[in-house]
Order: sequence, then structure tokens, then C-alpha cells
Amino acid sequence: MGTIHVMEHPLIEHKLTLMRDKRTGTKEFRALLQEVAMLMAYELTRSLPLAEVTIETPVTNAQFRVIAGKTLALVPVLRAGLGMLDGILNLIPAAKVGHVGLYRDHDTLQPVEYYCKLPSNLQERDVIVVDPMLATGGSASAALTVVKRHGAVHPKLMVLVAVPEGIKKIQTDHPDVDIYTAAIDEGLNEKGYIVPGLGDAGDRLYGTF
Ligand code: URA
Repeated sequence: MGTIHVMEHPLIEHKLTLMRDKRTGTKEFRALLQEVAMLMAYELTRSLPLAEVTIETPVTNAQFRVIAGKTLALVPVLRAGLGMLDGILNLIPAAKVGHVGLYRDHDTLQPVEYYCKLPSNLQERDVIVVDPMLATGGSASAALTVVKRHGAVHPKLMVLVAVPEGIKKIQTDHPDVDIYTAAIDEGLNEKGYIVPGLGDAGDRLYGTF
């Protein structure tokens, strides 16, 4: 079973509280989401493996360590996932980026893929699917299925706010996936919004109310 990591840090909590406040406008919301995503990426990359290399300083040859192993691929789920992308890229500028677009079919209520463009050789990369709100878990689960279909092995899921319903869905559909979140909220209301949540992340990011 995948692990759920709640990334507790005073800065993350403070910024998330500002984002939850309905008086926070689009410009500030967008900046805060990037900042939180960067802090979360800092925490998430804490466990990346290091390898020894020998380098020549201006004074002598010596051994030091650099990040080893697989290169990262970030896969934001359109459109709200884009709001976290630049924050992560600030820390990991060499990461490759793929995009997955999903919409919810009105009749079946199931996520339908309408766009997919992913880096090559996903099986050789550490893949992180990024989507701020883990609500029912339908689109995050579908995005994880897409990246696995393209070769991703044990992808990770980075969200901002999760609820138990969404966590359960991911753990059922993708027991190999670790989830990284800034908070676990109470649950979903009758309209599918996270409570207390922060509203529709895409609308708040792009001002589409
Ligand atoms: N998606 C959002 O953007 N917000 C929610 O509360 C639930 C799903």
C-alpha cells in the first residue's frame, strides 16, 4: 500500500490558510500556490538518492555528492495542476514536463482523456503527477493510469488538499502510489467540493468564476 505523506511545515500551513480565505484574489492565490508547490517539492525531494563524483575544485581533486539516478518527469493534470508546475520547476529546472487533460463526462461522471503529451522513456524517470485537489480521486486516478500506460513505474501523486474519499480511491486503484499532500480535509459536500477546502482551484487560479 502506498504511503500518504502530509507535508507539515509552518510556511506551507500559513500559505495554505491564505489560499483558503475567500478574500484572497487571483493574483495572490496564483503566487501562493507556486510557493507552496515549491516548498512541497523541497520536502518531496528530500529522499532522492545521491551518488559520489570526483570533481576538481580550483585547489584539489575531491569527492562530493550529486543527485543520482532517474531524472524527474512532472505531469500536471490540466488545468489546475498547471498552477503548481512553475513552483516545482523553480527547484528542479531540469525536470521534463508532460500534460494530461481530462474532463468529466456529464452522463457517466467518469473522467475522459482529451489530451496527453508525455516525455519519452517514462519507465526510466521518477514521475510525479500534480493536481491540487484530491476530491473524489477520479481524475487523479485516471491520470495515474495514463502515465502508467506510458511506462511510469510507481509514479507519485502531489496534491495540495486531499480528503479521505480521494485517498481511498487512489489507494484502491493504485496501491503502489505514494501521495504527498499539504493537508487532509474533512470530506466532500453534496456538490463534490472539498470541505472546508478552498473552492474550485482552477477558477481561483484563473479568475473564471
Ligand atoms: N476540485 C476543486 O478545485 N475544488 C474542490 O473542492 C474539489 C474539486
